[in-house]
Amino acid sequence: MVMRNTPTRYGAPARTFHWLTVLLVAGLFGLGLYMTRLEFSDWKLRVYSWHETVGVCVFLLTLARLGWRLYSPPPPLPPAPWVEHLAAESAHRFLYFCLIVQPILGWMGSNAFGFPVVWFGLVPLPNPLPKDDDLGGLLLGAHSLLAYAMGLVLLIHAGAALHHHFVRRDTILARMTPGIKPRPEKF
Ligand code: HEM
Ligand code: HEM
Repeated sequence: MVMRNTPTRYGAPARTFHWLTVLLVAGLFGLGLYMTRLEFSDWKLRVYSWHETVGVCVFLLTLARLGWRLYSPPPPLPPAPWVEHLAAESAHRFLYFCLIVQPILGWMGSNAFGFPVVWFGLVPLPNPLPKDDDLGGLLLGAHSLLAYAMGLVLLIHAGAALHHHFVRRDTILARMTPGIKPRPEKF
């Protein structure tokens, strides 16, 4: 099994980080959209705490992922017009930004509303902010807005990856995904 990234493909750790993050973030979108539309109840509070716990996991996973990325840099993008490189790299940077900032906004927003975040119901996170509903509204408003912006960029990101695989038939999706080979020109 290839551990480090090579000039032509991502290694197993980078692939695992990517696809585990996809699973967790899909879950976070599902839980986030569902829980905010529930009537106030114990169940609602329970779903909030699951969302918060998974969100903190994504934050920690992303710190580990960025550490690994420093140790083993990603393969360079294959030759393409500079606009495409700029678009791909900007999307990746923006997604990393969201994976770090979204959890912090969610944590600080809950904190300002006076709801402590307890990771897996076991580890209480620090509560640095005083109770302030206006600030809480601002932070969670930013959390919702950033979630929608992230969703939009993710659609473009995933669409571009599928375009590379099914239309251009190059190695972009294959080098990030176990078990996938570039599609041949003819069947
Ligand atoms: C990458 C990580 C995260 C993503 C993608 C994410 C995504 C979302 C989404 C889509 C919503 C629903 C927004 C809406 O419909 O208005 C939401 C709401 C919320 N999230 Fe997150 N979330 C993340 C991490 C966290 C974390 C770590 C916490 C807290 C520790 C948190 C706390 C909340 C809270 C309290 C709400 C409810 C906001 C409200 O009631 O207006 N989130 N999140
Ligand atoms: C929650 C959803 C997702 C997030 C947060 C995300 C995030 C990222 C990030 C940050 C990178 C850059 C990796 C690096 O070079 O360090 C990346 C690469 C990549 N992603 Fe995603 N991604 C998501 C979903 C998807 C989906 C659904 C697909 C496929 C349909 C996909 C396909 C790819 C591919 C092929 C690459 C490698 C591009 C290259 O070779 O340079 N991603 N993703």
